[in-house]
Amino acid sequence: MSQSAHAMAGAAQKLRSPISEQDYRERYRYSIESPEAFWREEMQRLDWMRTPEKIINGHFGENHSRIKWFEDGVLNVSANCLDRHLERRGDKPAIIWEGDNPDHQRIITYRELHQQTGQFANMLKALGVGRGDTVTLYMPMIPEAAIAMLACARIGAVHSVVFGGFSPEALAGRISDCASRVVITSDISRRGGKQVPLKKNVDEALAIKGTDCVEHVLVVPCGEAPIDWQSRDIDACAMMKEQSATCDPEAMGAENPLFILYTSGSTGTPKGLMHTSGGYLLYAAMTHQQIFDLREDDVYWCAADVGWVTGHSYVVYGPLANGATTVMFEGVPSYPDYGRVGEVIDRHNITIFYTSPTAIRAMMRHGDHVMDSSRRDSLRLIGTVGEPINPQAWHFSHQIIGNGRCPIMDTWWQTETGGHMMAPLTDVDNVKPGATMRPFFGVRPALMDAEGQHIEGEGDGSLVIEGSWPGQARTIWGNHERFEETYFSTHPGTYFTGDGAHRDADGDYWITGRIDDVLNVSGHRMGTAEIESALVAHPAVAEAAVVGFPHDVKGQGIYAYITLMQGAESSEALATELNDVVRRDIGAIAKLDAIQWAPGLPKTRSGKIMRRILRKIAANEVDSLGDISTLSDPDVVEALIKERIQH
Ligand code: WT7
Repeated sequence: MSQSAHAMAGAAQKLRSPISEQDYRERYRYSIESPEAFWREEMQRLDWMRTPEKIINGHFGENHSRIKWFEDGVLNVSANCLDRHLERRGDKPAIIWEGDNPDHQRIITYRELHQQTGQFANMLKALGVGRGDTVTLYMPMIPEAAIAMLACARIGAVHSVVFGGFSPEALAGRISDCASRVVITSDISRRGGKQVPLKKNVDEALAIKGTDCVEHVLVVPCGEAPIDWQSRDIDACAMMKEQSATCDPEAMGAENPLFILYTSGSTGTPKGLMHTSGGYLLYAAMTHQQIFDLREDDVYWCAADVGWVTGHSYVVYGPLANGATTVMFEGVPSYPDYGRVGEVIDRHNITIFYTSPTAIRAMMRHGDHVMDSSRRDSLRLIGTVGEPINPQAWHFSHQIIGNGRCPIMDTWWQTETGGHMMAPLTDVDNVKPGATMRPFFGVRPALMDAEGQHIEGEGDGSLVIEGSWPGQARTIWGNHERFEETYFSTHPGTYFTGDGAHRDADGDYWITGRIDDVLNVSGHRMGTAEIESALVAHPAVAEAAVVGFPHDVKGQGIYAYITLMQGAESSEALATELNDVVRRDIGAIAKLDAIQWAPGLPKTRSGKIMRRILRKIAANEVDSLGDISTLSDPDVVEALIKERIQH
């Protein structure tokens, strides 16, 4: 059967959405009107060592916010993800691992995951790691990444996972910010047939100032080549084998930190957002089960890397807390070719597939036939996350990947929110492609205008959340002031998301994208300020301004305007050097798509760069520049338009 005939045949048996319109409305109303009762019921999803009496203790203020959930509750996250499943699900696959090489597979049952986590936890203990200590992970997508996370949780240590695509500089900054005593890594990571030298990057990072806190580096050997062992290094696989598998889970307070995850903001260095043990785990588990309509025999695949929050909440914690089978994929969707995603789905009979619009567009670009090597009959739900999904990508997911049968859950959320905040929670026929539509239970979104007034009914504005939910980050590690300032001072009494949104006449939400200086490149979040500070550190650069522009596959591309020092000459070689400094400070994910040599930058009379204008020029929307009369030197704009880079 051809793809289109296949899709049409399937269209007749369209599958139900996770929740009906009516059930959603009733439960949502209950969650908002009786939050204490609602969350008291929901918290029973977890196994508590001491059941919480205090449910909500929250308040968003301008200078002082209080966010506490289940504060007198005691639990252990790894026991919730492992021990409690052993009786019923001991032989059920917890992790199905698919290597970068399509011939490499591993299946780990709940019993095996429990044993290996116990051994890993005992190894950490033997190295002196305990409650409240921070551990940095810089790992490939292998089961040991999940095992290391769970092992930290088991002994009350706080993990900070750093995405393997970040440079040694970026890694060093994150290690020193949270003063990790131990780093866990591998010799290499395999992606698309190539190898990333993780261990070498760690060695380079530890040569950078501020990383003396590190006492040990645990290395999980993956490659064939000999490893360049340093005195602080330990072969994690060898040491694990000597450990007992029995490790009693530490009793942790609900509000005790579970992990730190660094993410970019509009200013300054990346922020280490701190998530908790109780509220976070409950929220990750609950959203995972309800938004994806999880069932006992599902095989669930979230294609995100554990280095991002999606990997934390929806590869590891949510699925394992729910006793689900979670697929971990080491590779990339394009290797050996773009048929890979469909082949992985068929090989493991995957039922729920969670991915990003950028991955969908990358497949789509190769035509509908990229899916010809697979049938994907097992699929019953597709989720997306990371950026607004454009209608073409939505239809490709629905018609081609999902054979016209599967509901599409476009989930809007953030590193800060811990779990899904909005999704199309309605009957399948009411779903609007491109809209995330409805708040999850207990979540109260609102729109604000530029004057800080609420927008009622249909309109566009700054998206805020009124009131706390259990999954939200509690602080920025080591800098609570910055937390208050970033999220609670813009519209006092609400959480500021940094996103813009449209609310339509039916009350449904459409996310329109960041309204601050944060870029979203292939679903990777990057601060323009970070890239600019890497650029201006180059001796030839006097000033740099970075903006995003619409990019067919990546969502946004990076466009840099560079003003050179007097006497410095622009050249291809210099452009390469500038890309190198960005790669060194941040990583290859921050590659500049366009560099424009700018004689000057448009500024207000008070000296503020007018990014709005730079964004318009980069996007080639020069007919709608808006008011430029307030510029100190309006001629600059003319010059920039003339020299615009085609991309
Ligand atoms: C930003 C958060 C949450 C996991 C992935 C990214 C954008 C995320 C959507 C969506 C429109 C989305 C927002 C948000 N975003 N999901 N479904 N529709 N935009 O996490 O790195 O913290 O980025 O991603 O702009 O603020 P993150």
